[in-house]
Amino acid sequence: MPNVTFDQRSVRLDGKPVPIICGAIHYARSTPGMWPELLRASVEAGINTIDTYVFWGLHEREKRRYDFTGRLDLAYFLSLCQQHKLNVLLRIGPYICAETNFGGLPPWLIHEPGLVTRTDNAAWKREVLTWCKVLMAQIGEFQATRGGPVILAQLENEYNTVAKHYGADGPKYMDWVIASAKEMGLEVPLVMCEAPGDNKLELHDASLPRIIKGMNGFAIADRVPEFQRQFPAAPPIWTEAWGGWYTNFGDVTHFREDADFACAIAHFFAVGGAGVSYYMWHGGTNFGRESVYMQTTTYDSNAPLDEYGLPQRAFAHLKRLNHIVADHAEVLLEGTRSVQVLEAPREKEPLPRAAIYSCAKGTRTLAFLINESGQPYTMKSGALSIALKSKSCAITLDLNGDTRVLFESHPATAEAAIQPPPAAQWAASNVELNFVAFDEPLPDEQPTKFSNAIAMSEPRSMLPHTRDLSDYGWYQTVLSSATDRDATVVLPEVHDFSTLYLNGKFVGSQPERLNEDPKIFAKHTYNVRLKKGENRISILASALGLIKGDWAYNEPMSKERKGVIGAMLVDGMPQSLWWTLHAGLFGERARLFAPDTSDLAAWQAGPLTPRRLRWYRAKFKTPDSLLKARALALDVGALYKGLIWLNGECLGRYWQIPATDYVAEWMRGMTQTYGAGQPVQQRYHIPKDWLRAENTLVVLEETEAFPRGVKLLERAV
Ligand code: GAL
Repeated sequence: MPNVTFDQRSVRLDGKPVPIICGAIHYARSTPGMWPELLRASVEAGINTIDTYVFWGLHEREKRRYDFTGRLDLAYFLSLCQQHKLNVLLRIGPYICAETNFGGLPPWLIHEPGLVTRTDNAAWKREVLTWCKVLMAQIGEFQATRGGPVILAQLENEYNTVAKHYGADGPKYMDWVIASAKEMGLEVPLVMCEAPGDNKLELHDASLPRIIKGMNGFAIADRVPEFQRQFPAAPPIWTEAWGGWYTNFGDVTHFREDADFACAIAHFFAVGGAGVSYYMWHGGTNFGRESVYMQTTTYDSNAPLDEYGLPQRAFAHLKRLNHIVADHAEVLLEGTRSVQVLEAPREKEPLPRAAIYSCAKGTRTLAFLINESGQPYTMKSGALSIALKSKSCAITLDLNGDTRVLFESHPATAEAAIQPPPAAQWAASNVELNFVAFDEPLPDEQPTKFSNAIAMSEPRSMLPHTRDLSDYGWYQTVLSSATDRDATVVLPEVHDFSTLYLNGKFVGSQPERLNEDPKIFAKHTYNVRLKKGENRISILASALGLIKGDWAYNEPMSKERKGVIGAMLVDGMPQSLWWTLHAGLFGERARLFAPDTSDLAAWQAGPLTPRRLRWYRAKFKTPDSLLKARALALDVGALYKGLIWLNGECLGRYWQIPATDYVAEWMRGMTQTYGAGQPVQQRYHIPKDWLRAENTLVVLEETEAFPRGVKLLERAV
């Protein structure tokens, strides 16, 4: 039962300094069948701690109905970590950001009377406490205090980015969070992480002996001196070391040069870093409808273990670095530190541009040769002269006067040009997919006994009715016209897409692409030809994930809304009309995607004429070759936008919109990108755990695209 403490140099387990070499693996983003190999590979790479967020929104999709099964079996995940002798940093949140739907919160919170998220609000605090107690009843025994692997826990997440919205209530709420840890059942020290940037939040209780404030970012060595000044009793921990970035539909894919990343990590340890968490170490998959607004199903994030759990280029490089930190932990965390400055900092820079940082203990001296300057340097370590190009580093070890190089961030043999990660090698399997189809009926065509329509005097958010258990909602109204005429119809606010039908005929669909700011494409305009008399307007609203933080609307995220909102304008005039809303699709209510219920529908085979909004189904047996492959995926071929299920498990959303080369201003220079002009994700992860002897694959396609070229892929390496 290790006793977890910390001081200004390190976290200590039973008094022994331990560097935190942590890999973020989110249990819900892989399947239990994958977990043992993910953890084994992590140990091989020198990882000693696993960092996982806890996904409240998945465990409690419906209020007070808890799910800890399958890939939500957190207790099993923690027990596997323990078997692999891995410690755990449990990031409970319960707001977690993480590119997961609604930042990890259950969407039903939006409809709790008076609830405002992430502030000093009674309803919010009540729900947070209720959930955390349920969670801790499940996994409390895995804390180090009771002999388990969980050595550190995190509450909240990067609160400094949102505190400004809550005035005096923000710090008050944070004080409550910290003070409530005990009542929640937390017995290990707390980590509270902070985003980079100028949004400093003075934690009232940061001086408490049980809290370590963590730092997130692409490179954070230069924040260490200030951290040490502010928090002299805590070790600097890099709670999220970003080695890549997530992917949005319609945006390019990001990657980070391995050498540049390794150099940033080495630099951090050189200046006194005590622990790092690779975000992500294994990114995995946003299964189902679990990705946040606009995000792809893949959460690969350029992690050392790719979406399928297989090692990538960065794996070997970081493995060497991790082992050096682990092997020389005592020197690093207890040794005497000194620095030889070769190029001084400029103006307000906190650190030298080029320097040798040494840590010495007993007969060993570990030296970090850091060149962050714009020019090459030759640095001397013992009898060695080491040539360092601009923005590179090396680590040497001197043992009894004998010096050798342990690590070079940019080995001389490294490719000069920065290349995107090599593409994985996939081959088509011998499984044949023969699709049959079922047309999703427009609301008027649906049998009335299946209708769940409700009436509204003006279009409002569909979330209270879908409860975010579906992306879809049909809004319908009848508009009278005195003559046959052209008219302009404006929907003032739509999240995220609308498809408009007039008198049962398709008119158009908007927008073509989305933006991370959900307000940008919210106004939709259609030109229609009205007929004399009554015109039925049917609008299919479809959502692409809930927002992940307050910054999306500059309001608390409990203000999230989806669907058509506000009075429709015809030729500029707001219309006072009655509307009906049908939450979800007919095919969802009939559970066409699930093997046991899909047979109840009358699927059509044979040549089909193009039609929007259609379900496709293919059944196939599992050949041995699928089970032997290292990884499986579905190539969505000529499909365009929709959802995929295998045996009732949702594989995710797809959207084959080609990527633009847009990169947010603040991100430029942090990562490299590729893939402009191409759909950002064409392959969908099929976990082997989800295969059966006989399989049912179901696709919901929103456009007229056909499942041509859809195939199952196998990967050997
Ligand atoms: C951080 C956040 C993480 C994740 C990351 C981007 O700011 O704490 O949860 O969203 O950004 O991948």
